[in-house]
Amino acid sequence: MRIGVLTGGGDCPGLNAVIRAVVRKGVDTYGHEFVGFRDGWRGPLEGLTRPLGVAEVRGILPRGGTILGSSRTNPFKIDGGVEQIKSNLTELGIDALVAIGGEDTLGVATKLDELDVKVVGVPKTIDNDLGATDYTFGFDTAVNIAMEAIDRLHTTAESHHRTLVVEVMGRHAGWIALHAGLAGGANVILLPERNFDVDQVATYVEKRFQHQYAPIVVVAEGAQPLEGQMVTQNQELDAFGHVRLGGIGQWLSESLEAKTGKEARTVVLGHIQRGGTPSAFDRVLATRFGLHAIDAVHEGDFGKMVALRSTDIVRVPLVEATRELKTVPIERYTEAEVFFGS
Ligand code: F6P
Repeated sequence: MRIGVLTGGGDCPGLNAVIRAVVRKGVDTYGHEFVGFRDGWRGPLEGLTRPLGVAEVRGILPRGGTILGSSRTNPFKIDGGVEQIKSNLTELGIDALVAIGGEDTLGVATKLDELDVKVVGVPKTIDNDLGATDYTFGFDTAVNIAMEAIDRLHTTAESHHRTLVVEVMGRHAGWIALHAGLAGGANVILLPERNFDVDQVATYVEKRFQHQYAPIVVVAEGAQPLEGQMVTQNQELDAFGHVRLGGIGQWLSESLEAKTGKEARTVVLGHIQRGGTPSAFDRVLATRFGLHAIDAVHEGDFGKMVALRSTDIVRVPLVEATRELKTVPIERYTEAEVFFGS
């Protein structure tokens, strides 16, 4: 078979590990041939390819990002886009596709599968918010990066008797904030799943200072205070059609400074959480996803996505990838609350 591989959406540590596993097993075990599509769905849409063989995947396991490039191109939002993809795939002699991506990329894969394009999906997002899989690769790396930042911020916060607000990624789900906050010993953790009372946060901050320690507040970028405490975050699209959130961390540290009289600083971790080398956990998960994805292609089991269930890699219908956003259950948040302000 001649198989196309693409990576779409925001990049994520572990993408190259998936590509490597797909190609290595695909060539060595099954004797398939590969074509790399550049920049997500833009690749098949515009016929942008690059060679993808064993030589091209050598040495990429520890590299962050994606050797194929990525984009948020959605062919269903472009006039004639789907027909163009189908005709390019025929012209390039592509028998099947492996699409590695999050909600949007796999949403496109789901619709293409319904139009008889042979595709297998691999889930990715540092946010860990895809319902069909217990974990996505990239999440563990992001949590470790945020944890290390929090570890470092404790000492500088304490030396200067300041509040440190750390804003982490997570527009709709607070998994990174929850895990990094727990692992880093944060004193307050704020998630998009539950609107927070800024006065209550100020009380936690004051309590922490009373214990002679400086507070670390971890806030997910999508977290919001109670209605009436702040105008809703700006969620307009930027010039590239991406959602830009409005800096909850900065707002929070200014509010806490005003309410507690203690100096506060904000650190926005941003894309540092997505860059660089994947953790061992993410390399193993990404590799296992890749190995199982190429098995599915080889067996002709299309319209499926690989997923982690407990410690097993399973196949689920592609449509499940986008069915449900996996947010933090309230019990998980309550568990962490015991540390707030202490
Ligand atoms: O991959 C999801 C995510 O990491 C979100 O947590 C974040 O809001 C978003 O990507 C930012 O992506 P970009 O800057 O690429 O638009």
